[in-house]
Amino acid sequence: MPGGAGRSQEADIVIALPGNELFAKQLAIQGGYDVLRLDTRRFPDGESYLRILGDVEGRRAHIVCTLAQPDLQFLPLAFLADAARDLGAREVNLIAPYLGYMRQDRRFNPGEAITSRSFARLISGLFDGLITVDAHLHRYDALEEIYSIPAQNLHAAPVIAAWVAANVHDPLLVGPDEESAQWVRGIAEIADVPFTVLSKTRYGDRKVRIDVPDLSAWKDQQPILIDDIASSGRTMIEAARQISSQGLKSPICAIVHGLFADDAFAVLSEVAARVVSTDSVPHESNAISLVGLVVDSLTKKA
Ligand code: R5P
Repeated sequence: MPGGAGRSQEADIVIALPGNELFAKQLAIQGGYDVLRLDTRRFPDGESYLRILGDVEGRRAHIVCTLAQPDLQFLPLAFLADAARDLGAREVNLIAPYLGYMRQDRRFNPGEAITSRSFARLISGLFDGLITVDAHLHRYDALEEIYSIPAQNLHAAPVIAAWVAANVHDPLLVGPDEESAQWVRGIAEIADVPFTVLSKTRYGDRKVRIDVPDLSAWKDQQPILIDDIASSGRTMIEAARQISSQGLKSPICAIVHGLFADDAFAVLSEVAARVVSTDSVPHESNAISLVGLVVDSLTKKA
């Protein structure tokens, strides 16, 4: 999925689905791409209208759409990809800093849809390539297991590690559950700081129990809870409560993908010293940008 900076032919184009304009603009500035505006609205009956304002013919198009609300976003995204191709784009790529529908990765109960596979098939049918960041790979080893197009899974670890190094004195990184160990370990190695991982039992969408080992050896450290996703926020909230109950400082929470459903951010903000997230999903907690990672990835392949 080559980028366009510095090439003799016309620069690549970047088109944002609504809500993704800031990421797209920064991507275009840092990568030397052109932004094409999208005119889109809903007809009175709820159907979508889309118009790409600018020349797509013969150009490589990068469509930016973080998939935090995939049910609402998918159809406009499909129309946009199809329109770009129909208007002559020579390649149509999806840049989805957050890739939804990765968590139902097996049939837990008879009759369930394995939505990660279905969604991957749909996206693979629309785009030539995909770039995302820290996709929730739990029971899959790689995106290629379910995506049939070139799919790059970038890692936020270097930019989160840089944020930790620049902002936190004497940190202790904490993963709230076993799944988070992969992210926490990666960040701890880059930042050269200690880490520990807690244990989680989930009883429902909004009910979790977190078991914490004895952390008294770390009571002078600043705990930083790190997870890939905060959805209901209950994982982070319970972990933060348990850490504080051991007499440690209130933790900073650093999240790759801050989805923050319902009251998640408000409640988490009450129990955390600070909540920060990457800009994979636009939110007031965004403090760490992923744009540079995406540009590097596009440039390397140019
Ligand atoms: C585990 O599957 C993930 O890494 C996150 O811990 C989880 O998605 C967080 O969900 P919630 O915020 O709803 O507890």
